[in-house]
Amino acid sequence: MSKEAEIILDGKSYKFPVVEGSEGEKAIDISNLRAQSGYITLDTGYKNTGATQSSITFLDGELGILHYRGYPIEQLAEKSNFLEVAYLLIYKELPTKEQLSTFSERITKHTNLHEDFKKIFDGFPSSAHPMGVLSSLVSSLTAFYPGSIDDTAGDDELDLTIVRLLAKMPTIAAWSYKNSKGQPLMYPKNDLDYCSNFLYMMFGMPNQEYKVDPLVAEALNVLLILHADHEQNCSTSTVRIVGSAHASLYSSVAAGINALWGPLHGGANQEVIEMLEQIKKDGGDVQKFVNKAKDKNDSFRLMGFGHRVYKNFDPRAKIIKKACDSILSKLGVKDPVLDIAKNLEETALKDPYFIERKLYPNVDFYSGIIYKALGLKPELFTVMFALGRLPGWIAQWKEMREAGEPIGRPRQVYVGSNKRDYVPIEKRK
Ligand code: MLT
Repeated sequence: MSKEAEIILDGKSYKFPVVEGSEGEKAIDISNLRAQSGYITLDTGYKNTGATQSSITFLDGELGILHYRGYPIEQLAEKSNFLEVAYLLIYKELPTKEQLSTFSERITKHTNLHEDFKKIFDGFPSSAHPMGVLSSLVSSLTAFYPGSIDDTAGDDELDLTIVRLLAKMPTIAAWSYKNSKGQPLMYPKNDLDYCSNFLYMMFGMPNQEYKVDPLVAEALNVLLILHADHEQNCSTSTVRIVGSAHASLYSSVAAGINALWGPLHGGANQEVIEMLEQIKKDGGDVQKFVNKAKDKNDSFRLMGFGHRVYKNFDPRAKIIKKACDSILSKLGVKDPVLDIAKNLEETALKDPYFIERKLYPNVDFYSGIIYKALGLKPELFTVMFALGRLPGWIAQWKEMREAGEPIGRPRQVYVGSNKRDYVPIEKRK
């Protein structure tokens, strides 16, 4: 492997070190490019640019590989649980039994929200999108826990800030949902595990017995594990760059929630269900919409297929597809939209157009179907993605701060007007 790269600019040679990661990924370290040559690189969307060196998640888009701290996602989805994976991502190693028990107990202790949160919820109309409510409420945690803003706070304060966020985000998400339904808020129940408690707060009603279906809780566990981290995706990069300014964890995660809300990112699972509903409303002719997607003159695009990074099957999609088939059959869910989804998946997987372009169903395609089967409305799907991604955002923010990384400040190539003098308004045409 080359140990350095050489660039010839204006007849002059510049050499830059080559960096190789623990999984063989290679990069040219151009940290001194501008200082040496006056040139910068240009890579709109950063598709070829490494923002950092990270030890959290490894993914290989060509081979369809995804590891959290070295552990294959397939093993974690089958054998672990979400809080254990959160601990692994944030504290770098799988917890001992005692560490996990302490971690879980600490989180359980902090699931409740200050009563004043209700005043903030009351300020939102029931039509408010839950992602907007979620990002606002996560940001407002800085008001209730000012220690989270203190940039000089020690590890104990940061740990408490992390535990509070992991503990309270499900409550905020559930209360956002209840607020959107105009239903009474449900307080956390400390005798329930993380996923069961969330389901209880989402679907429970005061003075009514609500039994969490263990099958649904287990499916949620797997879904959250699959979404827990994904290296430098858009929302994680947002969390890192906001955090690089030494903004608090809560402010950085609130920014990440807003980035995830975008339909090109976490909002894709909501778009999938809306597309399926469109096909159903049009009569359910899947082939018609597959043909529309293949027609370059047609604006219709199949949501939930393909991926910016995975040029093979998204490893998470393989796992979630199995979970999807299992939960639909076990719950005995009958829904024409889900039948359309299965038909669309089979049609696309056989069509050379999609195979040649490696447009396989991605994690958003199946997660939208499962969330719908669990009774969630589409606006909640991205909230579920955020709940899953939370430990990844926390781990990435913590890694960036522990590494003492500088404030993120990309450069640009200016292509606007050259210098010109001010023209008084009476002389403008
Ligand atoms: C994610 O999990 O964040 C999405 O697959 C998007 C991405 O990784 O770019």
